[in-house]
Amino acid sequence: MTRQHDREATQSVYDRVARICAAGSADPALAARFSAEIQPGELRKMKKFRFQLLARWLTTHFEPCRVADIGGGKGLFAYLLQRRGWQATVIDPVRQDLPDKFKDFALNRRVKIASAERVPHMDRPFDPSLGRYFDLLVGMHAHGSNAMVIDAAATFGCGFVLFPCCVIDEPFYPVIGVDWLECVADYAVYKGHAVYPFRINFKGQNIGLVAPGRCELVELGRTNVPAY
Ligand SMILES: C[S@@+](CC[C@H](N)C(=O)[O-])C[C@H]1O[C@@H](n2cnc3c(N)ncnc32)[C@H](O)[C@@H]1O
Repeated sequence: MTRQHDREATQSVYDRVARICAAGSADPALAARFSAEIQPGELRKMKKFRFQLLARWLTTHFEPCRVADIGGGKGLFAYLLQRRGWQATVIDPVRQDLPDKFKDFALNRRVKIASAERVPHMDRPFDPSLGRYFDLLVGMHAHGSNAMVIDAAATFGCGFVLFPCCVIDEPFYPVIGVDWLECVADYAVYKGHAVYPFRINFKGQNIGLVAPGRCELVELGRTNVPAY
């Protein structure tokens, strides 16, 4: 598959997901806000720092809150949010140590993470009852939890941000010809969420679904883009 073909296929998935979301209870103003992030040219410069990019996106749009980093792996995303004053917790059945350094965008260099640094960690698979403890549930390429995050948000009113990638340990699968992202978006609409697609310029599956739920959004026009 050529890069051009790949780009067109991704855009086509994005457009189909956007149509599914628009058919639900989505607010057109919020749809425009969330989809306005990346200019077409910018998408060609895919970057590898997905945790920094998602943390920047999140803090641009959401006020700090109690956030769960579901399937958070090493916990760098949660760590970056914690540095910004968020109450971040990793939920992942496999506990891993934080990396010992990360690329700081503002300083344009790698910065060490002291070995004593920690983020709160629940060593367990996600289940919907955990939604009661959080305002926002984030699943970045998380396994076995996309449908449950949507269920939890429907029950407890929290928001969610999902970047679904593989279909692993989920209660349903897409039929042939339907992308997993469409399937997840459809389920979110079916469960009554106002949900919106957006893209961030990192490598890999970079189409996200955001449902703000009860979370407080940053006032439009206020610049609080963080420095990473
Ligand atoms: C592909 S990794 C993604 C890690 C990280 N979010 C990232 O983007 O690099 C999937 C993660 O999901 C975790 N996981 C698997 N089953 C899970 C479940 N039921 N609930 C929460 N996390 C799960 C795995 O342990 C793993 O860390």
